Amino acid sequence: MSEDESLLVNPFRESFSSRQHPQPCVVVIFGATGDLTHRKLVPAIYNLAFDGDLPLPLKVVGFARRPKTDEEFRTNLETLNRDVSRQGHDDAFWEPFSQSVSYHQGEFQDVEAYRSLARRLDAIYRKNGALGNRLFYLASAPEFFDDILQGLKDSRLNEPVSGCWSRVVVEKPFGTDLPSAQHLNQVVAQTFPEEDTYRIDHYLGKETAQNLMVLRFANTIFEPLWNQHHIECVQITCSEDLGMEGGRGGYYDKSGALRDMVQNHLLQLLSLVAMEPPTDLSADGVRDEKVKVIRSLRRMRDPESVAANVVRAQYTGGSIAGNEVAGYREEDRVHPESLTESYVALRLHIDTWRWSAVPFYVRMGKRLPKKATEISIHFKSPPGVLFNNGKSGAKNENVLVIRIQPDEGHSLKITSKVPGAALRLESVKMDFRYRTSFGKASPEAYERLLLDAMAGDATLFARRDEVEEAWRFIDEIEKAWHESENPPPMADYPAGSWGPGTADDLLAEGGHIWRRL
Ligand code: BG6
Repeated sequence: MSEDESLLVNPFRESFSSRQHPQPCVVVIFGATGDLTHRKLVPAIYNLAFDGDLPLPLKVVGFARRPKTDEEFRTNLETLNRDVSRQGHDDAFWEPFSQSVSYHQGEFQDVEAYRSLARRLDAIYRKNGALGNRLFYLASAPEFFDDILQGLKDSRLNEPVSGCWSRVVVEKPFGTDLPSAQHLNQVVAQTFPEEDTYRIDHYLGKETAQNLMVLRFANTIFEPLWNQHHIECVQITCSEDLGMEGGRGGYYDKSGALRDMVQNHLLQLLSLVAMEPPTDLSADGVRDEKVKVIRSLRRMRDPESVAANVVRAQYTGGSIAGNEVAGYREEDRVHPESLTESYVALRLHIDTWRWSAVPFYVRMGKRLPKKATEISIHFKSPPGVLFNNGKSGAKNENVLVIRIQPDEGHSLKITSKVPGAALRLESVKMDFRYRTSFGKASPEAYERLLLDAMAGDATLFARRDEVEEAWRFIDEIEKAWHESENPPPMADYPAGSWGPGTADDLLAEGGHIWRRL
């Protein structure tokens, strides 16, 4: 074992890895002093190392503008890791782990900073021939993505060392509309080939999202029912209790719920629920099917169809878990007359043979009562001839709930007879929880996605056409809201409630109600 390898071996844990093979590499993180690096990326690498899942040797180089020594950088990372690491912070493990992390100061526009980075990476490679692979992670503010890609190209860091690979991971937001996403795709394509480009959507790395294909295609009981003949509606809810803490209002007020969460995370979940079985599990096999779903979404080309199918709203002051909180327009860095939505609910239709006439209801909101994301598949009620004639009690509806977070798992609601002489029916739940069935918490999404990028597996990353199709769909709604003469109205809801009444009306029109989380 080389000196580098011994640094990262966790003496306390055995590796449970059964994944494909990620390869040793240097991970260069641009935007290394930011929140994402401190809260997600480095803790993910730490946890992978702790579990013995990391390919070794591995080095992390943080690139950012602020002057900082390696030691200062490591101390900052350590402070956050103590708070956020999935499995706690082990001083004895952190010490050698942190030695594989270093800092490279540079301006994103400065050609010399990339040249010196190239020299640094060459030195690492010369010292250890296993470290020729390079994973460039764009975790900076998105306005610097162009500069960073240009810098990588000018310094020829995008060109792999002979026999090695060079890949780029691009964080969200991937553009703010179709033209900006197309522009970014073009710049990326001039620097890295598509097969070395990893557009991250961390929802795809969540354990239950990954399990969606397994649930559908590795079981025989769901797929025959997974269509318009048996499904009444599908609901996808992403609820967050947080508002605009930590100065987030500045970014969010320019984005809004539709762009921030629906264009990416929720349309990705929807495509996994609605896709046809892929011909194989290759990255393109899966993504070919997903993109067809997004392409089949019924478009809302005019403000009237947007008004009829989409509800947007902002929270007003209210209370969450007993604490008084301000309204959206009073939040730090939010414009007092902002027209940005903190909540959106959509009724979507997928115009395919399988899904014809099945509404997909999707909602996302900030300052709702709790943090939870779930997908629910509502099956049609049985004919009311025997039990469902209105006299026997509860409505007999089978619902399959896929809990993305928290408490990852599935439950199936079925109807059962209440014990006793009378014929009374009630809903009961068959429940599966990852934590109890597998005896351990699921890894963080970033852990899985980083490993996949190191393994060259892009299945859980968005492809160029998926991102562009999603923007094409979203842009029409944004246009109706912000550019039409008669824009659809902005509703409001008190913080701590489940959103505006108009979102309930959207479902009531089809005889449906939102599932209570
Ligand atoms: C991010 C959004 O992509 O996802 C945030 O920008 C949101 O607004 C976050 O809060 C939610 O991620 P998670 O994993 O906490 O559900």
